[in-house]
Amino acid sequence: MQIRQSNQRLNFDKNPTFEKDINPKQRAWIEVRGKALETNVRQLRSRLNKSCQFMAVVKADGYGHDAKVVSEFAIKGGASHLGVATLKEGVKLRSSGVKIPILILGNLYTKKDLTISFKNDLMPTISSIRECLICNNIGKHFDLKFSLHLKVDTGMSRLGFESNKFVQQFDRIKSFENITIEGIYSHLSSADEHNSLNPESSTQLQRQKFLELLKQINIDRYHNIKIHLANSAGMLLNKDFHFHMVRVGLSMYGYSPLTKIDKNLSLKPALFLKVKVAFIRIIDKGVSVSYGGKFISSRKTKLAVLSIGYADGVPRNLSGKLNVIHNKKLYPQVGSITMDQMMVDITDSNEIKIGSTMVLLGSDGDKTISPIDWARKSNTIPWEILCSFKNRLPRVQID
Ligand SMILES: Cc1ncc(COP(=O)(O)O)c(C=O)c1O
Repeated sequence: MQIRQSNQRLNFDKNPTFEKDINPKQRAWIEVRGKALETNVRQLRSRLNKSCQFMAVVKADGYGHDAKVVSEFAIKGGASHLGVATLKEGVKLRSSGVKIPILILGNLYTKKDLTISFKNDLMPTISSIRECLICNNIGKHFDLKFSLHLKVDTGMSRLGFESNKFVQQFDRIKSFENITIEGIYSHLSSADEHNSLNPESSTQLQRQKFLELLKQINIDRYHNIKIHLANSAGMLLNKDFHFHMVRVGLSMYGYSPLTKIDKNLSLKPALFLKVKVAFIRIIDKGVSVSYGGKFISSRKTKLAVLSIGYADGVPRNLSGKLNVIHNKKLYPQVGSITMDQMMVDITDSNEIKIGSTMVLLGSDGDKTISPIDWARKSNTIPWEILCSFKNRLPRVQID
């Protein structure tokens, strides 16, 4: 009998395997806990006055969680607005059926992009008269009003009208007939720093500058313009930062940006990172593990090879600094993290097998590992850790 070659087998297979047929939990995956998101939003909202609205910031695919799922549960928790960074992110949410107002926090500057934004009912952030004019012309063309938010720079030096020109420019913008100024906002640069409640801190100075500008444009005359300033840290500092709306990202995902622990706040992480043990091997004492031989076993060692690496978004500079949880116990990761795999010392376990699931981020019993721990060890911030997870990791929605 002639043995078939694999390419012939493909042609003969009556039940081909499609990508969707592969179990998302086959290798490594992110669990997204919708209920945690919903209760975090509820809990955060309970700190706001009744009239203060909650914008859920779902840019960068919902901080790596899956923007669609995050939006759905944030809305259930009471979010009235969504914030995205890009036109594409906004259009994607609209086409998935999201109906509530969406603000694009990044900058659109061409007529083409602003027209797409208008047609999809996405509000752009406007930082110049030039962009305002384009929006006004688009509104005129459709004989409608284009809703947008003006941004003013109070200390980020990123987007926004220059604060010393804003009052004069606002006077001109007011006369544009085909735009509606839905909001005026600014962004805090350092609200997560420990001194933010100090009257001399840059956070307080930003707030003062923002208030001064609002006073100069006689904001009290404009009842329909929403004023907003706070990110998570600003929101958690105190009500002085809340105005008509807060724009909340990190804390909604379950992590406080403030170093001081607030005992009344019990945010639940919405993201668990899990991985399968793909292989187990036993090495003798004095054997090198992974690239560069940075780890040499000091005893006879049982290693679990986990199917996750830096190509999935685990920072390589965490090599040798990570722990992984299995059945409420911590196990140390050893040797360099490779592109697709990493090794863990499981010498002390009799229960971990090929196919066992281990937790890289999340909780099991009294053990918790958070993106804040990873960020501290790899000299970055939790926002970057969350946004680094690649599409290779399936997002699996729980509840
Ligand atoms: C303009 C703006 N507002 C709000 C946020 C939300 O910030 P946080 O995740 O700290 O709540 C961000 C995030 O970077 C932002 O860029």
